[in-house]
Amino acid sequence: MTTNARGIAVLQDPKLNKSTAFTEAEKQALGLVGLVPDVTESADLQLQRVNLQLAQKSTDLERYIYLINLLDHDETLFYRTLMSDPARFLPIVYDPTIGEACLKFGHIYRQARGMYLSITRRGTVKDVLKNWPEKDVRFICVTDAGRILGLGDLGANGMGIPIGKLQLYTACAGVPPQYLLPMYLDAGTNNEQYLHDPLYLGMRKARPSTDELYSFVDEFVEAVQEVFPKCCIHFEDWTGVDAVHLLQRYRGKYCVYNDDVQGTAGIVLTGMINAAKIKGTKLSDEKYLFLGAGSAGIGLANLLCSAMVQEGLSLTQAQSRVYMFDINGLLEDSRTDLVDFQKPYAHKNAPTRDFVAAIESTKPTTIIGVSTVGGTFTQKVIETISNINERPVVLALSNPTDHAECTPEQAYTWSKGKAIYAAGVQFPPVHYEGQTLLPGQANNFYIFPAVGMAIFATQASRVTDEMFIEAARAVADQVPSELLKQGLLYPLQSNILETEIQTAARVAKLVFDSGLARVARPADMVAFIRSHVYSPEYKIESARSTAA
Ligand code: NAI
Repeated sequence: MTTNARGIAVLQDPKLNKSTAFTEAEKQALGLVGLVPDVTESADLQLQRVNLQLAQKSTDLERYIYLINLLDHDETLFYRTLMSDPARFLPIVYDPTIGEACLKFGHIYRQARGMYLSITRRGTVKDVLKNWPEKDVRFICVTDAGRILGLGDLGANGMGIPIGKLQLYTACAGVPPQYLLPMYLDAGTNNEQYLHDPLYLGMRKARPSTDELYSFVDEFVEAVQEVFPKCCIHFEDWTGVDAVHLLQRYRGKYCVYNDDVQGTAGIVLTGMINAAKIKGTKLSDEKYLFLGAGSAGIGLANLLCSAMVQEGLSLTQAQSRVYMFDINGLLEDSRTDLVDFQKPYAHKNAPTRDFVAAIESTKPTTIIGVSTVGGTFTQKVIETISNINERPVVLALSNPTDHAECTPEQAYTWSKGKAIYAAGVQFPPVHYEGQTLLPGQANNFYIFPAVGMAIFATQASRVTDEMFIEAARAVADQVPSELLKQGLLYPLQSNILETEIQTAARVAKLVFDSGLARVARPADMVAFIRSHVYSPEYKIESARSTAA
């Protein structure tokens, strides 16, 4: 290859391209003189231009498209941008903007990213995986887009989720991007709108039977073991039933996890740990009443019980502290409509379909909204729990924003400032009687990238629930006491990389202690994690060596 051809290849490779930052020596060596502006800009100046251009966009979707376009040309500058101000950029590359980006995915599509594996490729999955240019893949985030966020079956449009989720591994916890592979398993869609959209990018077929789908996933999971033996498979945004079943199917045998089940439960657990800390109690001193007994509620209840068992309770004692209330009322032992995984939470109680009556009879210290229905924590609900608790804990987790069971303002006002509150979405601070109260957001991105970093660094062979509990405890421990006093249950997003490094170090220690690591144990766990952290700096050496 001529020097000039190599230089052009560097310009066109987003992993190597330095845009306006090539030095004179690099331009000479790569034959790029005259092909790029005759300046050598600093990282700060480049970032200044990105911010200027972003400021000219009028919507977050336009900013999302701009940033993805930047990623297509200059990966380093993309991550430098994200990591320069995570609190500002994470909501653009991920939730909530990603929801709109997915809905319009086929329309805003510019360039291929990740892999599209169709069920029609059954029998050849291994060969298809070998087409991926990187040979050492450590994480595949995979979806069949059966349930994207709260938006339902989005088919190929759901590809935005694994792409965005893996960007968070890098931006939040420093997992190097070359090891990450977003994957869409195309098993069709039942979304009529997309089936009739000429710009839809997926297979135009209805979804197959569960057996057919699972046999395709089996082939995929087994092929990954052969083609990428150090890879962890992260399942994301499958329907609730598939999420639970596929996790059960593979977790004992392969390195897999499901963020909707385990990561979500982990981050809510963080909030509960800190709520207990504010009150001066332990998790096992509290009593929990869930509004909603679906996949989020059950995943969370199970992880919460495991954490209470770690505090010394038996599993039955832990379960006896958790009550649930769903669309048909309080779960209690005379109900005949419950599925197996709900039964441990159906206790001897009088039947009731009235949530306020359920609070009066079970006397919870914490209510947790995972019902999908906005406004269900009414004034009467908040007043009732406030009457029986000095500091009631109110977690209104349903999202998007208008689905939250109550707003922070309502929780603080109706409880006369007593409530400890967190939501599933971001709300601004609330001023109540001279105090500034900080509603936290139970966002998974504090947990899964850190767990991912620990798995990456230790080459863990399995992912366990205990790893998510340890991550939850580590994140909880990093909220400074002055912020806890203002009711904040989660760390500030501005310092997320450092929070996740510390969290990853705690999880990594557990991985070594559990005998699941596939590398030698280091003396200093934090330094070990830091040594694996990606830094968004241009790879000058590669440009030099290829030019030599
Ligand atoms: P799901 O559909 O599996 O379960 C919903 C549950 O709510 C069911 O048990 C249903 O019977 C119950 N329910 C529905 N309407 C009700 C009503 N009017 N009164 C009482 N119960 C009612 O949904 P899933 O996956 O469990 O998610 C629930 C919500 O939690 C969603 O809005 C989701 O966005 C949110 N969520 C928030 C997370 C976070 O903050 N990080 C994480 C995961 C879920």
